[in-house]
Amino acid sequence: GLKKKEVHVLCLGLDNSGKTTIINKLKPANAQTHDIVPTIGFSIEKFKTSSLSFTVFDMSGQGRYRNLWEHYYKEGQAIIFVIDSSDKLRMVVAKEELETLLNHADIKHRRMPVLFFANKMDLRDSLSSVKVSQLLSLENIKDKPWHICASDGLTGEGLQEGVDWLQEQIT
Ligand code: GTP
Ligand code: MG
Repeated sequence: GLKKKEVHVLCLGLDNSGKTTIINKLKPANAQTHDIVPTIGFSIEKFKTSSLSFTVFDMSGQGRYRNLWEHYYKEGQAIIFVIDSSDKLRMVVAKEELETLLNHADIKHRRMPVLFFANKMDLRDSLSSVKVSQLLSLENIKDKPWHICASDGLTGEGLQEGVDWLQEQIT
């Protein structure tokens, strides 16, 4: 068949936000793992959509590994940024990391689509995607196309909408 276009995506966000869980859920059922552990450093994952073949740099969000992120910025053509919508205490930390990311020389003036997952929507006290978007001041992102979806990494709810958007931005 036709060869799908290859895209490199950076998956970023604080530790415990659900990055690895989401990426795992985007793989075909027979390629998914059942025990997900905190990422050490980073891991390279692959999944396909109807028209694209994604290579994802699934980065650890732990503080001590966040300085690794920038080494991969040049490689990335798009960003998936995951937020734990129930982690109100660390929303400001997520905001700071996002600002640092978007102001980085290797990111700043590039047209890189940014897909936000307001993850853990299933938890009782999680914030809505609109609220998360306000707390992160996403309306200030003027130089990149961005989109936010509420998601549940465990069931996969919301993931398709996000990936469809990303695919549309890239193809
Ligand atoms: P690091 O690799 O440390 O940066 O974390 P991560 O962002 O990759 O998070 P990970 O996927 O390891 O998930 C952290 C925890 O959150 C795990 O216990 C997951 O099962 C849980 N989790 C992920 N997504 C969801 C979700 O949508 N809802 C709920 N309730 N739990 C989730
Ligand atoms: Mg992880």
